[in-house]
Amino acid sequence: MKELLENLKKEAVEKIGKVKNAEELKMWEIEFLGRGKGKMTEITKKLKDLSDAEKPVLGKLANEVKRFLEEKFSEKKNSLENAAIEKELGKDFFDTTIPGKVRGLGHIHPLSQVQEEVERIFSQMGFTVMDGPEVESEYYNFEGLNIPLDHPARDMQDTFFVAETAAKAGQEGDGKHGRLVLRTHTSPVQVRTMEKFGAPLRVIVPGRVFRYEATDASHDTTFCQVEGLLVDEGISLAHLKGVLAEFLTRLFGKPVKVRFRPGYFPFVEPGLEVDFSCLLCGGRGCRVCKQSGWVEFMGAGMVHENVLKAGGIDPKKYQGWAFGFGLTRLVMMRYGIDDIRLLTNGDLRFIKQF
Ligand code: DAH
Repeated sequence: MKELLENLKKEAVEKIGKVKNAEELKMWEIEFLGRGKGKMTEITKKLKDLSDAEKPVLGKLANEVKRFLEEKFSEKKNSLENAAIEKELGKDFFDTTIPGKVRGLGHIHPLSQVQEEVERIFSQMGFTVMDGPEVESEYYNFEGLNIPLDHPARDMQDTFFVAETAAKAGQEGDGKHGRLVLRTHTSPVQVRTMEKFGAPLRVIVPGRVFRYEATDASHDTTFCQVEGLLVDEGISLAHLKGVLAEFLTRLFGKPVKVRFRPGYFPFVEPGLEVDFSCLLCGGRGCRVCKQSGWVEFMGAGMVHENVLKAGGIDPKKYQGWAFGFGLTRLVMMRYGIDDIRLLTNGDLRFIKQF
C-alpha cells in the first residue's frame, strides 16, 4: 500500500510535467483525483481492508499524497492561466489590480513640530529664523557674550572642548577666537548676526546645544534651545513682555500671562528669569507649577553693552533685548513627557504617539 501511494505520486508528477493545456490538465485531474474512478480514490477505497494497526499510518500518508496532488494541480492551473494571459497581452503585461506594497509613512518628530510652530509664530511677528555652528569658537560662546576666561560664570555651563584649535579647523584662527567648543547655548549666534546684519535686528535661533552633564530624567548632554534677539532704537523690557505673552498665547491657544523676576546672566543687564502662568491650573496652583501658579520658562534681559559692542553696534544709539529658552523643555511640558531621554533615544514606540 505504501508502495502503491509512492508510485502513484511519482507517476502523477511525471505526467503533470508533460501537461501543456487546460484539456490535458482536466484529463490529469480525472485520472488521479477523479471522484469515481480516479487513482487516488481507488487506493483510498482499499484502506478499509487494512489491519487496525496499519489504518492510521497509511491513512495519514494517503491524505498527504492527496493534498500534494491537489497542490500540484492548482500550481499547474495557475501557471497555465498566466501563460495564456501573457500570450494574449504580451510579455509586458502589468496587472494593475495586484495590491501594492504598503510603506509606512513617517512623521515629523515632536521636537521639530514644536520648533516649526515657534518659527511660524515669530516669523509672523517679523523675526528672521537664523542658524549658527554647533561647533563654536570659545570667543563666540563666551568672551563675545561678556563672559571672560577667568569669570566664574563660565562654570554655569559645563563645556565640551573639541580637541582641535580654531585655526586648525579653518575657522577664525587669530588667537582671539580661542579653542573650539560644542556650543553650550544658542546665544553665540547673537554676536554672529549682529556682526553680519547690524541694527535694527529681529531674529530667533533654534538649535542644538551641548553640556558636559550627567544624564538623568531631566538632563541630557544634547538638547534644543531657542534664542531671541531684538535690537532697535528706543527698545525696552515692555516690548519683551508683550512679545513673549503674545508668543505663548498663540502657541498654547489660550491667554497666557508672563512674569519677570531678576536673574543673572553675564550677557544682559538687567537680567531676568521669565515665568508664565501655569496652563494646567490657570494660576491657582498645582503639582506642575509646584503650587506657585507660575512655570519657570527662560532667561532674558536687556543686551549688555559689551555684547552690542562685540557685535559692532553702537550702544548709545541702539538698545535690545534677548532671551533663551529650552525647546526640549517646552516640548516636555506641552506633551507631559517626564523623561528627556525619550526624545532622542530613537524608540519608535514612543515617537509614534505624536
Ligand atoms: N544662554 C542662557 C542659557 O543657556 C539662556 C539665556 C539667558 C539666553 C538670558 C539669553 C538671555 O539670550 O538674555 O542658560
